[in-house]
Amino acid sequence: MSLREIGLAELDPAGFIERQVREISAAVGDGMAINALSGGVDSSTVTLLGHRALGDRLLTVFVENGIMREGEPQRVVSLYRELGVPVQVIDAREQFYDALKGITDPEEKREAITQTFYRDVFGQLVRESGATYLLQGTIYTDVEETIAGIKRQHNILAQIGIDTEQVYGYKVVEPLIQLRKPAVRVVAKALGLPQEIYDRPPFPGPALAARVIGEVTPERVQVVRAATAIVEEELAHTAAFQYLAILHEDRVTGMREGKRDFGLQIEVRCWDSEDARTGSPTRLPFDVLSNLADRITNEVPGVVSVTYNIAKKPPSTIEAV
Ligand code: XMP
Repeated sequence: MSLREIGLAELDPAGFIERQVREISAAVGDGMAINALSGGVDSSTVTLLGHRALGDRLLTVFVENGIMREGEPQRVVSLYRELGVPVQVIDAREQFYDALKGITDPEEKREAITQTFYRDVFGQLVRESGATYLLQGTIYTDVEETIAGIKRQHNILAQIGIDTEQVYGYKVVEPLIQLRKPAVRVVAKALGLPQEIYDRPPFPGPALAARVIGEVTPERVQVVRAATAIVEEELAHTAAFQYLAILHEDRVTGMREGKRDFGLQIEVRCWDSEDARTGSPTRLPFDVLSNLADRITNEVPGVVSVTYNIAKKPPSTIEAV
């Protein structure tokens, strides 16, 4: 691909911020732009760059898609209120679950999320707000993996030949496209974002849908959401790159209160990685794993089995879908 990476060694955060603010201003001109904030480091960085460039001509929304982590919408809105950035919450839960109904194929799932996000939710927002630009936090790794044919990352559009203006009615500006995650963290810090954001482990765009194997229903997302909360709480003290819970499609026989319980299986993954290109499972102490299994089987209804992934990326990927 012709895109050039700006590596950590050559990154001058202040100069980068100045240049991106200038470029966003030049691209959007006197118009309005819109951006979706998820609370992760990439979208947070874009939100601050966009506000510096456009002020109140940038409408920042949090799309409540129903597949986010526990308490996420409230957390994000209140954190940004403290930072002085107004965030509008858009309730799109029904649209996402309708689009995901009956789909089990991973690429079809990604496609359903992409279309719901860009065509339905943003298409409507753009028509209502008069915005002509969408600012988004696509990073170098997203482009690389999509172009290499590994996975269709949900936010890749122009790079695979989609003319967003023609298809969705708005242009897309991507200020972070030359950076990998470690460089984005440096820029986020330089913009004055708090450590809980610039140090936050990565989280995928398709959210918990990337961690549900098989059909994504509100009930199945609730299972993985509860398991995720436990994994994040128990592994926050580690220096791991990312940790997550996955809900499997198959059920297995287990026992509860002396009776057979044909129950759910959760897989825990915890990764050591530099930038998500490759990864190895963290060598967690067995007591930590055992405690995770106890908490997940006791606290998440229906789960009878907890496994820990020991395969590297590649051939695994970090997420399961
Ligand atoms: P994978 O699973 O491709 O993930 O090894 C690489 C990194 O990207 C994050 N991430 C995504 N992963 N689809 C994904 O599968 C997405 O749309 C996406 N967005 C971000 C993932 O969490 C990991 O850090």
